[in-house]
Amino acid sequence: MHMKKLLKENYLRILFLCTATIIATSFYLYNNIAFAEPTWNPPSGPPLLIDGETAPRSSDPDTNPEHNNTRILDQRSNPHAAFKENTNACAHCHSTHMGKSANLLRESTRKDLCFSCHDGRGSKYDSKGGLYYSSAGTVVDSLAGGFNTSAGFTSTHMIEDNNIAPGGTQDQIMLVCTSCHNPHGTGNYRNLATEINGVTIGNHNKKLADARDGIFVASKLDPKTNLYQPDIRENSFTKAEVVSYGGGFDKFCSTCHKDYVYYHYEGTDMNDPTKYRHPVGTLLTGGSRTTTTDPQEMPLSYTYPNSLFTTLPTQGVPSGVYPLPKSSFSTTGGTLNVTGANKYWYIITGVNMLGESHQGYIKGISVTGATATNTVNLVYPSISNALSYKVYRAGPSASEPIRTQFGLIGSTTTATASFTYDPIKREYTFKDNGSVSPDTTKNPPAINKQEPLDTTSQIGINAPKIMCLTCHFSHGTKSHDYYTGESKLKRKNSMGVCQDCHKK
Ligand code: HEC
Ligand code: HEC
Ligand code: HEC
Ligand code: HEC
Ligand code: HEC
Ligand code: HEC
Repeated sequence: MHMKKLLKENYLRILFLCTATIIATSFYLYNNIAFAEPTWNPPSGPPLLIDGETAPRSSDPDTNPEHNNTRILDQRSNPHAAFKENTNACAHCHSTHMGKSANLLRESTRKDLCFSCHDGRGSKYDSKGGLYYSSAGTVVDSLAGGFNTSAGFTSTHMIEDNNIAPGGTQDQIMLVCTSCHNPHGTGNYRNLATEINGVTIGNHNKKLADARDGIFVASKLDPKTNLYQPDIRENSFTKAEVVSYGGGFDKFCSTCHKDYVYYHYEGTDMNDPTKYRHPVGTLLTGGSRTTTTDPQEMPLSYTYPNSLFTTLPTQGVPSGVYPLPKSSFSTTGGTLNVTGANKYWYIITGVNMLGESHQGYIKGISVTGATATNTVNLVYPSISNALSYKVYRAGPSASEPIRTQFGLIGSTTTATASFTYDPIKREYTFKDNGSVSPDTTKNPPAINKQEPLDTTSQIGINAPKIMCLTCHFSHGTKSHDYYTGESKLKRKNSMGVCQDCHKK
């Protein structure tokens, strides 16, 4: 049975090889010889990625005098798309007569091919080491993590190895980079495949501003292509990339781990059909299900003041901020008054490209010095999918004020001097020295209500929700589970991902 499967696979490979040769050659002939595009002369010189050479990184200065317009710079930077105008890009990966493996690939395996650039040599994404080369010249963690166990990754999706996906069918899967990514580009975020394991995931429609199909993140119109491209930005403090996850990720992961998307397994052939799982697609307030007749309905809810706050990435806007207990005041450096009512109240929200979080936790800080010279230091952990933060203040007043009494006093996008960031602890400090009075026309957003997803009115559509990527990295993790020694691609050590939300 396994032999048969192998034969079948190889038979397909041979077929692929022939088809690929014909298609690639005719593509090449069509574009380069017969109907060469007059508007652009491809760079002269030897093809990239021959032995000892490296591909350009998009951050490299473009010194080629032939590259005198920005369109060409774009084409050079990303070999995965814009083929219509840049057929030369095929040669980064394919060699018509000297391919080392099926599909005329330049390297012996698909992994080697991808790593010929994504190991730090040919792209700002080093997926081997899980690194991102930021525009500031710093090297920070990449979003998906890395694959190289000798770089400290304790568990990874195992590439080019036969394995059974937990929670999936019992078939062996030979996981390759192209199981999840399409090297020729798709409409989806990160060129994620449009079909995996026979399951259609969909293709994000980049022509529509509000398209919610396929695997998508917040996007913006690219004036050059007139298409909506993922709006990926760098956080000005961490230099890490920030992506506002829009949707499709749970579906994506469950193409191989099909059971894990259900709170209850719905199939018939599992050993224990009564297994419960942590829900995904759930708002941070819980009570995820939209109807009470849904058998998977969960009665739990975490409404204010028991709302859950997390630093983990959510689908939608980030979670609100939960300031750390070590937030305090100092009796110098500011003008905060202590006469009369002596408590200052703060709300910090997280902002990404989809919008602002729900109302953050209300933190009260008693200022008990003798004179009006006080400063409040709010310390809070970095939220991985927040691009910026806003701080609102109310008071001084002894009792907890209502939302409309809060006014904006700082935002990382405007008053950066009040914010500092500690990259080791991954913590921010906001200093309120009293110099900015609250702008009471700018109130914090409403508290995180249980807004059932209403697809027509789109209410709650961008509210923060749990997804597979909340707890797991996609490629690999450096975390470690002290009891089992395993790490299962989890974003934090042991049960750290659970504590990050539930704070038991
Ligand atoms: C970034 C690397 C890369 C670039 C650039 C690239 N390819 Fe590919 N191509 C691959 C890989 C990897 C495969 C094998 C696909 C798989 O693993 O499923 C492949 C497969 C193919 C196939 C056979 C399977 C299929 O999808 O039809 C054809 C034909 C092909 N490529 C043509 C092209 C042409 C033409 C270009 C340029 C317009 C191009 N490729 C550019 C990496 C690349
Ligand atoms: C010739 C070099 C090269 C090869 C080979 C290559 N890539 Fe890339 N890749 C790039 C560059 C350049 C970018 C654009 C980002 C940047 O500026 O570094 C990129 C971007 C990506 C992205 C992010 C896309 C996005 O829009 O955010 C993914 C995912 C990716 N590559 C996967 C792969 C996979 C999988 C393979 C192997 C099939 C592969 N790459 C092979 C150079 C390469
Ligand atoms: C199990 C599916 C899966 C496999 C296998 C996979 N990737 Fe990815 N990859 C993803 C997802 C999902 C993301 C986006 C992660 C995020 O935004 O958190 C991603 C992101 C990336 C990026 C963008 C940088 C980053 O860290 O976000 C690159 C480049 C990339 N992958 C290359 C590769 C290469 C090279 C391989 C093979 C060695 C590979 N991927 C294998 C799912 C996969
Ligand atoms: C193309 C199929 C495929 C997709 C898509 C996929 N996985 Fe996997 N996954 C596997 C296979 C096969 C294994 C078992 C072998 C291994 O660890 O790589 C696995 C293992 C895992 C493990 C266990 C790792 C360990 O240390 O034992 C986790 C956790 C996981 N996947 C999470 C995810 C998440 C999260 C996503 C979505 C970002 C995802 N997977 C998408 C195929 C897939
Ligand atoms: C709330 C956090 C959380 C979310 C959300 C989550 N996981 Fe997990 N996952 C875990 C933890 C924790 C483990 C480790 C196993 C354990 O301790 O029970 C794990 C383990 C796994 C494993 C390995 C199981 C094994 O037997 O080796 C896979 C595969 C997996 N998750 C896939 C997924 C997929 C797919 C999704 C989205 C549908 C998802 N997870 C969502 C926390 C989460
Ligand atoms: C991103 C925030 C978040 C993370 C991380 C998280 N949870 Fe939850 N958890 C929730 C929410 C929200 C609910 C309520 C779900 C609902 O009502 O639909 C919930 C529900 C639960 C429940 C009740 C489920 C039931 O069947 O009654 C338990 C138990 C639980 N979580 C444990 C965990 C554990 C263990 C982890 C770590 C693997 C974890 N949670 C990680 C947000 C989170």
